Amino acid sequence: MLNIDSIEEFEKKIKRVIITEEEIKEAIKKAGKQISDSYDGRPILLVSILKGAFVFMADLCRAITVPCEIGFMCAKSYYNGTVSSGVVKITMDLEQDISNYHVVIVEDIIDTGRTLNDVVKMLKSRNPLSLKVVTLLDKPDRRLVDFTADIALFTIPDYFVIGYGLDCGEYFRNLPYIAEFNEEDN
Ligand code: IMP
Ligand code: MG
Repeated sequence: MLNIDSIEEFEKKIKRVIITEEEIKEAIKKAGKQISDSYDGRPILLVSILKGAFVFMADLCRAITVPCEIGFMCAKSYYNGTVSSGVVKITMDLEQDISNYHVVIVEDIIDTGRTLNDVVKMLKSRNPLSLKVVTLLDKPDRRLVDFTADIALFTIPDYFVIGYGLDCGEYFRNLPYIAEFNEEDN
């Protein structure tokens, strides 16, 4: 899908940085404090949606001071290039029985809202003590289903973004910042 055979082609796809490493760090510090304060010492379970949220999860969990366990789920939303197909599939489920947990879902980005809408419905049906959603990025202009996160660190316009866990064609997850993807061919 993406033809990247060289470092030059890789770099050409990075149009411009929209959120710096420093800005991400600051926002995570704040969100970690907000989450820690709201659970007031009670243990929580952080559930990260793979693959996109793996970097955010790693940094966010270290900004949280209440006792916390971590869990992973894999939800795949299928893409044709940068356009969502609307098909969401859970390809790996949590190993924990969540009925005794205060659950916090950790997501990379809310776009159409379909992925989280499905995941939240599914996890709520398992009767957790409580359930909240924190997302690194929110693109409210693109919403197709009504969904609001409890905490969104950054609200962005309708760009396709890459970096800090987010991919295009599985590349760019390793960038330490969030950048706009260059959709042009040359
Ligand atoms: P939704 O179900 O449309 O809300 O999409 C959620 C998933 O689509 C996210 O978890 C991402 O994996 C992916 N996604 C949505 N927008 C972007 C983007 O701008 N860049 C990279 N991935 C995206
Ligand atoms: Mg993705």
